[in-house]
Amino acid sequence: MSKDRLIIFDTTLRDGEQSPGATMDRDEKLRIAKVLERMRVDVIEAGFAIASQGDFESVKLIANTIKDSTICSLARAKESDIDRAGEALAGANSGRIHTFIATSPIHMEHKLRLAPDEVIVHAVNAVKHARNLIDDVEFSCEDAGRSDIDFLCRIIEQVINAGARTINIPDTVGYAIPGQYGNTIKQLLERIPNADKAIFSVHCHNDLGLAVANSLEAVLNGARQVECTINGLGERAGNASLEEIVMAVRTRADLFPVETHINTTEIVPASRLVSSITGFPVQPNKAIVGANAFAHESGIHQDGVLKHRETYEIMRAEDVGWNTNRMVLGKHSGRAAFRARVEELGVTFETNEELNDAFQRFKDLADKKHEIFDEDLQALISDTKQAAEDERFKLVYLDAASKTGETPEAHIILSVDGKEVEARAKGAGPVDATFKAIENVAKSESSLQLYSVNAITSGTDSQGEVTVRLEKGGRIVNGHGADVDIISASAKAYLNALNHFAAGLERAHPQAADV
Ligand code: KIV
Ligand code: ZN
Repeated sequence: MSKDRLIIFDTTLRDGEQSPGATMDRDEKLRIAKVLERMRVDVIEAGFAIASQGDFESVKLIANTIKDSTICSLARAKESDIDRAGEALAGANSGRIHTFIATSPIHMEHKLRLAPDEVIVHAVNAVKHARNLIDDVEFSCEDAGRSDIDFLCRIIEQVINAGARTINIPDTVGYAIPGQYGNTIKQLLERIPNADKAIFSVHCHNDLGLAVANSLEAVLNGARQVECTINGLGERAGNASLEEIVMAVRTRADLFPVETHINTTEIVPASRLVSSITGFPVQPNKAIVGANAFAHESGIHQDGVLKHRETYEIMRAEDVGWNTNRMVLGKHSGRAAFRARVEELGVTFETNEELNDAFQRFKDLADKKHEIFDEDLQALISDTKQAAEDERFKLVYLDAASKTGETPEAHIILSVDGKEVEARAKGAGPVDATFKAIENVAKSESSLQLYSVNAITSGTDSQGEVTVRLEKGGRIVNGHGADVDIISASAKAYLNALNHFAAGLERAHPQAADV
């Protein structure tokens, strides 16, 4: 029996990026988009073009580069938003404008301050306007999870008549419960007279930990597009996780009347890349992509798996990309091997200097670390790209010592706007002393919200990947740094966060503003 296609719509670069502190720059977004394309994701939501100049540039770059996936930009139901999205997508092989307006009583009354009939007028006009620019238009009823079903039927019928090809039913605040949400999808498909003219999509948030369950229940009830993110990244508790949706549909093919076209072996590499770029670690027991997802601790399980692997394993680790794509480079690997592997990871260097710098960093790392894995290369590429940027603060020298019975002390030299400045500080530990020394120079007046260290690979020679989150005046920035020396990695991460503050990239939040 032939199965329907389940469209996988990835919104890591848009809704995922709305996760506080998960901001990504243009190059980082392109690197992720390339992995998503290799994974054969059907639609990549590349951003919210009107949010900022940076967002616009990212959508445009991705639209001009990625050829095998449809590239989508979000736009509120406003002509200016839609025009900006259309402009960013002009170079796409296949582009989509995704426009939305809130449909729940609470949002219409308190956020939009519009009567339901006025909301319908805005929605219909937005879809018509978008259709004048592009054929592929998606319409979302924001907060559909708390919207009245009769009103949803009315507005959806009209936006389909106006030309929307995909109708998305977001559970914006993660309020839905599987049976009830599945029933909503079923009702909409049954009651809307022109429902067969559009694909119904779902977009679930994870506030109650039900985003994946709700999405799957919707698929069983007729939804044919799922919006999701790598590692479940997203606003608050996140969005439905792509890897869990894809592997559930594949593993329980006996239950689902759909199939995806996803190349599942790219799942783990994509998960690692997103984690490394955003600095959001993946919990070890996370399904599919957690370090323990395929590890068997108990003796009984190990015995069973060794005798016949299906006794305890419902999926094969290699099918989702564990242990693949990990070609090892080392001290003796040459420039050609380095370049080839980096290109296979989807990275291109804009200048020869950038490539030379990356290769030198690789050689330095190979001197300290026996084997260099893809994860090391990804971190090294991030460092190289950061160094190529116009950064206000750069680390020139660091000496941080900790001795038993003595207070740790750090001595640093920073380059600030090209001028070298020196500072010393004592602290509770060498990292604390280093951050204090940096602050003696930077005087950022920010407060540290998060400090996390993760080993990129296994072994004590692993690079430590550090994330630092700083807050100032309600604005949050993340900084990342990687090094085999975690004090250096910490200093790099702190300076990276300060550089993000200095770059001062302000963005509009799509759901904060009205029409
Ligand atoms: O959660 C949500 O409602 C959204 C929409 C903009 C689709 O992200
Ligand atoms: Zn969302």
